[in-house]
Amino acid sequence: MMAGPLHGPGQPAGPRAPLTAEQREALSGPIVTLPTVADTRALGTRLAALLRAGDLIVLTGPLGAGKTALVQGIGAGLGVSGAVVSPTFVIARVHRGPLPLVHVDAYRLGSLAEVDDLDLDVDTADAVTVVEWGAGLVEQLADARLEVSIARAADSEERTARLMPHGGDWAARVAALAEQAG
Ligand SMILES: Nc1ncnc2c1ncn2[C@@H]1O[C@H](COP(=O)(O)OP(=O)(O)O)[C@@H](O)[C@H]1O
Ligand SMILES: [Mg+2]
Repeated sequence: MMAGPLHGPGQPAGPRAPLTAEQREALSGPIVTLPTVADTRALGTRLAALLRAGDLIVLTGPLGAGKTALVQGIGAGLGVSGAVVSPTFVIARVHRGPLPLVHVDAYRLGSLAEVDDLDLDVDTADAVTVVEWGAGLVEQLADARLEVSIARAADSEERTARLMPHGGDWAARVAALAEQAG
């Protein structure tokens, strides 16, 4: 039997047609290439310039991806006090500054609701909260947030960061950031 035109080569297979790379990017946000740890920190510093009180940023990616490195850049950009390090023994650390930074390592946290139970001596409405999160748990978060998903290459130092805006005016801020990153 001859293949009809609907099944011919080059015909999109209806709703299951794979998205082009461009379409995927438009849906889930731009990707920034980060050749070195300095580039990752620089991205954080540029991001810091766009931040406001009450913002939530969720970082996903495997251990060693560079989530804490990104937070170090954010901390530098915000001009907060205290070294940003992996919060190994504490779940959250507050860094003082004009706009305080709440740095949370949620690997051992069951849900973000628990952040409110941590009894931090800062109100997250007056601060920027950055959460290092185990991948796969973010879906339960409903609030406006920027999600940054960092992936690492097997054979080089290079990382890629996907900037995924969720609600609020994050799409506009991500567009501004991606433009700078060129
Ligand atoms: N391009 C890069 N971006 C970020 N970190 C990098 C990069 N290349 C190498 N590194 C190294 O990878 C490690 C990342 O560690 P860290 O930021 O603590 O990761 P995570 O918080 O995701 O577990 C650091 O030792 C850093 O120097
Ligand atoms: Mg970390």
